[in-house]
Amino acid sequence: MDRLLSGPPLTAGTESYGAHQQRFGLLPAAAARSLIGRLEASNLAGRGGAGFPVGRKWRAVAERANRKGVVLANGAEGEPLSLKDRTIMAARPHLVIDGAVLAADAVGADDIIFYVGAEHQAAEAAMRYALTERSADLRGRARLIQAPRGYVAGEESAAVHFVNAGDARPTITPPRPFERGVGGRPTLVQNVESLAAAALVARGDDAGTSLATLSGAVRRTGVMEIGLDATLAEVAASGGGLVRPVQAVLLGGYFGGWVDINDVWALPLAPGSLRARGHAFGCGVLYFLAEETCGVEATARIIGYLASQSARQCGPCLFGLGAIDAACRRLAARSAQPDDLKRIARWSGQLAGRGACKHPDGATGLLRSALGVFADDYAAHQRGFCVHRAPAVGRPVAMAEAVA
Ligand SMILES: Cc1cc2nc3c(=O)[nH]c(=O)nc-3n(C[C@H](O)[C@H](O)[C@H](O)COP(=O)(O)O)c2cc1C
Ligand code: SF4
Repeated sequence: MDRLLSGPPLTAGTESYGAHQQRFGLLPAAAARSLIGRLEASNLAGRGGAGFPVGRKWRAVAERANRKGVVLANGAEGEPLSLKDRTIMAARPHLVIDGAVLAADAVGADDIIFYVGAEHQAAEAAMRYALTERSADLRGRARLIQAPRGYVAGEESAAVHFVNAGDARPTITPPRPFERGVGGRPTLVQNVESLAAAALVARGDDAGTSLATLSGAVRRTGVMEIGLDATLAEVAASGGGLVRPVQAVLLGGYFGGWVDINDVWALPLAPGSLRARGHAFGCGVLYFLAEETCGVEATARIIGYLASQSARQCGPCLFGLGAIDAACRRLAARSAQPDDLKRIARWSGQLAGRGACKHPDGATGLLRSALGVFADDYAAHQRGFCVHRAPAVGRPVAMAEAVA
């Protein structure tokens, strides 16, 4: 089953270049150009959240290669419930580097930037060491840059802006990074797991597995590699089963959505099957919400976090998310103003597309899913009641800390 995480167990630490080469052989560099077609045929979807087809993005950058391009490997991983990017960088850095080198060859780039979250120290150390192991091959065309903390720093235009100007705030797009990015050059921004997966496709593998970060009411929390044809029930079983009855799952992280457990339990996690039901795997977060835990409170904590992460440069994002956050807090505390529920329902449909980046879209998408899945709970909270025995406690990041 394991492809990305095949080889020594994660507890064995970082895989050396020697061990990596022994398992995978030399990089099939000659195949770089034809790789774009193979990636398209493999239907590999990006693993940073939006699920955009990897092959199509490589082609778009390659077609603009009248100037040498740049590959920006996105390892910012600001999503509080996700651990998979730091895990693959810490354990399998050479697979990530393989993917970035292949991408550079395929799209015609001579600059590779590994953009690694400043808080992911083990990942950064492993990547830096791996780059020194390959310095002769890389001939100075790869470097590592620490991504500043914060949710928005991993957004692609923010990443490009940080490299260009030292400020990780999204820029008004277009031009998009693939048109004009780092140094004004066509830039392929690709999640680090997507690059590692591309390196496997280059070696004849398919794109049938994905990393997932499990947390909440499941026995074994943390990063797992799952087959995309597996159902959520099978994934939960591989995670040692549920520790308590579960009412909903947060699929795809803070930019994903709540899904009623009965709607998704028997569903394969393949992108197509999820999409057909209006869901998405996003960055692979699977958070299991116990029946006894209050979804209104859990959602209020997430919205509070996302509102705090606005880059504060677009009015609808700053003030809209701020107002939604305040109403969600009142509802969670069972001290709602008369129209709070109606207001957040209205606002949740008004903010999408109103920011320079998709931050408000993600936050309001999450809220809309909550208003559907926890409809009865929201109605009860509006009237001042909560039926749950164990109201959610703590800050949202406490969920992520619980994962480790
Ligand atoms: C607010 C926000 C935060 C994001 N954070 C990350 C991140 O931490 N890591 C990441 O790979 N993509 C992140 N993305 C998605 C990137 O903009 C981009 O789509 C992604 O890096 C492309 O890689 P992929 O196609 O391989 O998924 C974020 C997007 C938004 C809107
Ligand atoms: S939408 Fe929000 S997070 Fe995105 S650029 Fe505007 S203020 Fe910043």
